[in-house]
Amino acid sequence: MLLFIIVSKLLSTSIVHFLIPAAGSGSRMKAGKNKLLIDLEGESLIYWTLKSVFSASSTNWVGIIGQPKDKNLLLNSAKDFAQKVHWIDGGETRQQSVFNGLKALPKDAKKVLIHDGARCLINPELIDLCAKQLDENEAVILATKVTDTIKIVDNEGFIKETPNRNYLWAAQTPQGFLVDRLKKAHMMAIDKKWKVTDDASLFEMLNWKVKIIEGTSSNIKITSPIDLKIAKLFVNNY
Ligand code: CTP
Ligand code: MG
Repeated sequence: MLLFIIVSKLLSTSIVHFLIPAAGSGSRMKAGKNKLLIDLEGESLIYWTLKSVFSASSTNWVGIIGQPKDKNLLLNSAKDFAQKVHWIDGGETRQQSVFNGLKALPKDAKKVLIHDGARCLINPELIDLCAKQLDENEAVILATKVTDTIKIVDNEGFIKETPNRNYLWAAQTPQGFLVDRLKKAHMMAIDKKWKVTDDASLFEMLNWKVKIIEGTSSNIKITSPIDLKIAKLFVNNY
């Protein structure tokens, strides 16, 4: 009976390939190095990200996309996982880094979750939820409802309009896609010179559907020094 439960659990788990963009410079963090090397409670940010990713039962294959100069530093700072991850050289922009990652996926990869290395507080259960939702959707992203009132502002700094908050969500990662579709979207973006800051944007530009999955506000992207203080409160608690 126990064996049956284990086998059926394994069969029902959605298996995904994982790409972790980690090739940024961390300019807003002003740490003088890739922010993913910064210490948070005794471990690097990339360590915490990898810990969560490897704790998710849907994780099959993990590629980390980084600048060649950071390779040894990043892998050494997350030694427990260094043997298990596949290294991929990053590009000048996040978009180029993800495209490099897509080209480096094994041929049999059907579904991919892209997760920013800088979102080191991701809960493994939310990773599995994204993977599961990808069984029924071609594209999914984690997002949270916006709580601030958002203003659209003109170039002179005056408010143009206030969009209805009921329709506003803050995009996070993981963002999950069928590999063939995402590759096609990236190739079209190169062709049409589209510049985006997340992968879901490419699907939107092509009028392809992206399903929102409600995430948690603890899944912050470590961007500025204050985010490190917030992360300290959450890190041992996912
Ligand atoms: N990233 C990447 N390749 C790039 C730029 C960014 O893989 N050329 C990654 C970052 O390492 C990060 C994620 O994309 O994990 C989200 O980017 P962001 O938070 O903007 O990180 P940085 O670009 O490093 O920071 P900044 O914009 O402040 O310089
Ligand atoms: Mg950036």
